[in-house]
Amino acid sequence: MRTILVLNAKGGSGKSTLATTLASYYAVRGQRVALADMDVQRSSLDWLALRDTDRPEIKAIDAVHQGLRIPPGVDVMIIDAPAGTHGDALSALVQRAQTILIPVVPSPVDMRAAERFMAELTTIKGIERHKAKVATIANRAREGTQATTALEAQLEHLKLPDGRKLPFLARLRSSVNYLRAAERGGSIFEFAPTATEPDRECWAPILRWLSSARSLPS
Ligand SMILES: Nc1ncnc2c1ncn2[C@@H]1O[C@H](COP(=O)(O)OP(=O)(O)OP(=O)(O)O)[C@@H](O)[C@H]1O
Ligand SMILES: [Mg+2]
Repeated sequence: MRTILVLNAKGGSGKSTLATTLASYYAVRGQRVALADMDVQRSSLDWLALRDTDRPEIKAIDAVHQGLRIPPGVDVMIIDAPAGTHGDALSALVQRAQTILIPVVPSPVDMRAAERFMAELTTIKGIERHKAKVATIANRAREGTQATTALEAQLEHLKLPDGRKLPFLARLRSSVNYLRAAERGGSIFEFAPTATEPDRECWAPILRWLSSARSLPS
């Protein structure tokens, strides 16, 4: 089973948006997907509840109340982490993941928080020993703005303690399609391609990395 964790201790960076989008992407491709919500806010579970029954099925895991119990026969499990995950809770969560995606939004406050969070994350044993592969994503980023340029420079220079670079995968634009997706329990991979093409293009490098061995434990 493939396990992908969407993580950032900072609130509002796009974790639930990424987690639900990815769950939908794999479900549309015919994979048996489970979406685990670890957050008392229940954003991912709310999204699943809004989802039409005729859309490709995604199994719900209410990890806050039932733990990370994986239903049988799942191919891909996406974990939506809560804000404020640090210390032992962070270490425990990292041990459950093969792949970790970190969305960061271009704002000075978020970038400072991301710097501290990455410093904590990269010293966790599972990551140091490459048991889980980590990559970053700039979210809600407008090309050419000072804030986006600064964020990209920050994300491009992130390294593990052993000097290995952490991949910075993509810049996701701010798009009303994600708000529509949140309203309807759908995703850019389920809406009309004409309306979502620019967003799908932004996702291409993320999906490429996720389908490569580089995103799996070595
Ligand atoms: N690329 C985007 N374009 C437009 N809106 C976005 C984008 N990414 C996220 N959002 C919106 O920003 C808000 C915060 O996103 P989201 O809930 O995914 O963040 P989060 O990291 O899960 O937050 P929390 O830490 O509170 O769980 C939501 O309203 C979401 O719809
Ligand atoms: Mg969330």
